[in-house]
Amino acid sequence: MATPPEETPFVHEMRTRCHAEGSVLWVRDGELGVFDPEAAQKIHALNFSDLTLPDKLADLLRGRRGSPVSWKEVRTAWLSQLRRLSDAEAVARLAARMSELLEERLDRPLDWVWVAQEVCSQALVPTVVTGLKPTDVSRVLRDQTLKLTQLLAIGPGRDTLWQELRAIWIQVGAGSAVRRELRGRATGRRPRQLDLADPIVELLPVLGMDRAVDAVTAVLTAIAGPPGAAATCLLYELTRRPEWAQRLARELSPLKLEDFYSAPTRVAPVTHRFVKETLRMWGPPMFMTRLARTDIQLEQASLKTGQRYYVSPYLVHHAPEHWKDPDAFDPDRWLADAPHGPCSGASYVPFGWAPTTCIGAGLGTAQLMLLCHLMCTRYRLQLSAPEEVRMMLANVALPLGFTGTLTRR
Ligand code: HEM
Repeated sequence: MATPPEETPFVHEMRTRCHAEGSVLWVRDGELGVFDPEAAQKIHALNFSDLTLPDKLADLLRGRRGSPVSWKEVRTAWLSQLRRLSDAEAVARLAARMSELLEERLDRPLDWVWVAQEVCSQALVPTVVTGLKPTDVSRVLRDQTLKLTQLLAIGPGRDTLWQELRAIWIQVGAGSAVRRELRGRATGRRPRQLDLADPIVELLPVLGMDRAVDAVTAVLTAIAGPPGAAATCLLYELTRRPEWAQRLARELSPLKLEDFYSAPTRVAPVTHRFVKETLRMWGPPMFMTRLARTDIQLEQASLKTGQRYYVSPYLVHHAPEHWKDPDAFDPDRWLADAPHGPCSGASYVPFGWAPTTCIGAGLGTAQLMLLCHLMCTRYRLQLSAPEEVRMMLANVALPLGFTGTLTRR
């Protein structure tokens, strides 16, 4: 039998209380845990029904109400740009960037929790904002590293004042790099680009510069964490399951790259099932907290504006009421008629809940498929001490002792 994962005290408490008390529970005063699939769907839909951006900080400080800006409009603009960023050429460019980053990390023992994060997030940066000067790229990458350090920390830990000031300095640096790029494009001094910053240039008159910068940095934050955490878990499963690695290699090796890049999930269904199951087993983040933007009435409890709620893809994906044998990793549960598949759409939420579901679900899935392709056909990851690797559930699921050396096949 597989060893159960280790857990931080908070994960342990939520998991055990969820089993004992039911899947909607008070985490502490004024903070509700909503771990039931339907209730999570409902609370998120009610909370974000207006889908507007909050007031600008400058307006809040001056006690002014800004005019509401539609987040839906921003999302729609991104989603249509992402359709262009997911065509075969763009996916091939993403694969080339991932491969380049892997090549730089060949032939020496490294911590693959970090390598997977660096490879995924750095390869995605040009999708979000491209054309930056090298000093501005460094500013953005320093900010990504800071966010990853916070995400991958185990346990609460408190930053010193110096660390907090440094973090603010780094964030301001990344924000100013984005601001320069947006202003440059808006004034015609810098060329327009095929990236997610570009639709924001169009929306500048509606958003204003501060909100525009916030929108682009929100996507930079979104790519520094979940994609790499999912990739780490994918590598964890691949290294533990040589029979699946071989099955994937048999499917992926004969594929023509142009076919794979244009429709990875269609031409490689076994690999797609493996990716889906990795996201079910270990999909990041463990918990998300949201502020109630309005009073919310659920069947099981009610929340007042300003109180908080927690949701958790992990707890939804591991609920025995909704999944048969939820703790077993089995990509074949995604076969059409498998008896142990999801019992409803609400019980599989690796990309969160409407109306703020992940805009990068398609691209994120494609990136994980590319990683399978690279790791099963071009490279080999040899762990230094496979028997010592153990899974830890903290802010995300992360394998401890996951050190290994990458070589070319
Ligand atoms: C496997 C990879 C990924 C995973 C597991 C993932 C997961 C998530 C999750 C759980 C959320 C929260 C949704 C909610 O509020 O309920 C989210 C939001 C978001 N993700 Fe992803 N994500 C991935 C890749 C990406 C990529 C590649 C991009 C950008 C190209 C991206 C951009 C975003 C953005 C902008 C949001 C915020 C959406 C909003 O607030 O409206 N994500 N993601």
